[in-house]
Amino acid sequence: MSILLIYYSRSGHTKKVSHVISKNLSCDIEEIKDTKKRLGFIGYLRSGKDALMKKLTILEKITKDPGQYDLIIIGTPIWTSKMSTPIRTYITENKDKFKNIACFCTQGGKGGEKSLQEMGKLCDKEPVATLVIKAKEVKKETFNEKVNDFVSEVKKTF
Ligand SMILES: Cc1cc2nc3c(=O)[nH]c(=O)nc-3n(C[C@H](O)[C@H](O)[C@H](O)COP(=O)(O)O)c2cc1C
Repeated sequence: MSILLIYYSRSGHTKKVSHVISKNLSCDIEEIKDTKKRLGFIGYLRSGKDALMKKLTILEKITKDPGQYDLIIIGTPIWTSKMSTPIRTYITENKDKFKNIACFCTQGGKGGEKSLQEMGKLCDKEPVATLVIKAKEVKKETFNEKVNDFVSEVKKTF
């Protein structure tokens, strides 16, 4: 079974978790990049506003075709209790090619579960597995057990 993990990460947390998951599953991985600047204080404010308003953005060209995979794992940071704008854009542009999905997020404290539900709805698919990790768990590197559970769920299905 072929699996692609795609993720967006503004400050590195989702990236870190993504690489652990993709290593455990030995799957392909692709980082989504935004053409809009999101770093710094202005970038922070813009990101919060864009996410809240469910805006879309212009992504850099992706290299992997999601239509070639049995499962797409989608990872996002939570912005203003929503999925990040680059991930909303990726899903909107590619969801017709998804066969199955699994979703995960990293968050400061709240909004994750609801956002993962919204991602499933936007994809028009029930995720085979979901995972919410707090930023402090990433910093302390205490998220491995949660990742193992998520990976086991995925392996059960694939
Ligand atoms: C603009 C913005 C808004 C955020 N809003 C929330 C939020 O509503 N709830 C939350 O738990 N964390 C929120 N966070 C924190 C991030 O979700 C968290 O730090 C995440 O791990 C960042 O992932 P990254 O390093 O991959 O970008 C926000 C961060 C940013 C930049």
